[in-house]
Amino acid sequence: MTSVLQFSFAPVAGHSRRRQRIHASADRQALFSRIAPVYDNLNDVLSLGQHRIWKRMAVDWSGAKQGSKVLDLCCGSGDLAFLLSQKVGLDGQVIGLDFSREQLVIALSRQKAHSKACYCNLKWVEGDALDLPFSDSYFDAITMGYGLRNVIDKYKAMKEVYRVLKPGSKASILDFNKSTDELGASIQGWMIDNIVVPVAAGYGLSKEYQYLKSSIQGFLTGQELEHIALKAGFSSAKHYKVGGGLMGNLVATR
Ligand SMILES: C[S@@+](CC[C@H](N)C(=O)[O-])C[C@H]1O[C@@H](n2cnc3c(N)ncnc32)[C@H](O)[C@@H]1O
Repeated sequence: MTSVLQFSFAPVAGHSRRRQRIHASADRQALFSRIAPVYDNLNDVLSLGQHRIWKRMAVDWSGAKQGSKVLDLCCGSGDLAFLLSQKVGLDGQVIGLDFSREQLVIALSRQKAHSKACYCNLKWVEGDALDLPFSDSYFDAITMGYGLRNVIDKYKAMKEVYRVLKPGSKASILDFNKSTDELGASIQGWMIDNIVVPVAAGYGLSKEYQYLKSSIQGFLTGQELEHIALKAGFSSAKHYKVGGGLMGNLVATR
C-alpha cells in the first residue's frame, strides 16, 4: 500500500544551534517545494537527459538486488526510488524519504500514473534525513541523489545513513563533484552562471538555481566525502567521478 506519512520537526527548547539549523533547513525545504512542479523537466533540460544515466549508475553502486529492503534519501520526485523499485522487485521494499511534501506529492502521482506492477513495493515518507524514523540496521542498501549537498549537517546525515544500514551493506551517494582543480571549478561555475541560471530564469526560478553554485562551493570534495564516511563509521569509502568529473558518486560500505 502507498502512503505519504507525516513526520514532525519539533525544535528542542533553549537549544539555539539546533534552532538555527531548523531555520536553515526550513529555507531549503521551502526552496525545494517551490521548484517541485518544474524540477523533473529542468533536470532533463539542464543535463540533456544525462542525469538518468548517472542515477542508474548510483543504483547499481548501491548493491540493491531482488528482494532488498532499500531507502532512497532526499528522494524528491522519486527518480532513484523508481529505479530501485524495478531492481528489488515485488519481493523487495523501497522507501523514498524527503522533507518536501510537494516533492512527495509529485512522486506519488508519478507512481500512480505509471502503473508498473513492481511500483506497489514503494512507500513515500515525509521526514528529515538528519533524524531518520527507522530502526538500526534496517536497510540492505541506501541511495541519495543530490541530497547530501543540501542537508545542513552532512556528518550527522552520514551517521544516520550508517545507523540504519545493515552491516556489510552499501550507501551510494550521487551529487555534483566539488572540483579540486581551479579549471574544473571555473568551468562548473561558468556553466551554472551562463546556462543553468538563465534556463531556470525562464521558469521564474533564477534565484533558486543561483543557490546551486554556493551549495557546490560549500560542499565537500571527493576526498573529504570519503573522510566523513570513514569518520561516521563506514569500513570503506570510495568516491568516483561521473559525467566527465561534473558529478561524483560516493560508495560507502558499512
Ligand atoms: C536536488 S533534490 C534531489 C531529488 C532527487 N533525489 C533527485 O535526484 O532528483 C534534493 C532533495 O533533498 C531534499 N532534502 C534536502 N534536505 C533534506 C533533509 N534534511 N531531509 C529530507 N529531505 C531533504 C529536498 O526536499 C529535495 O527534494
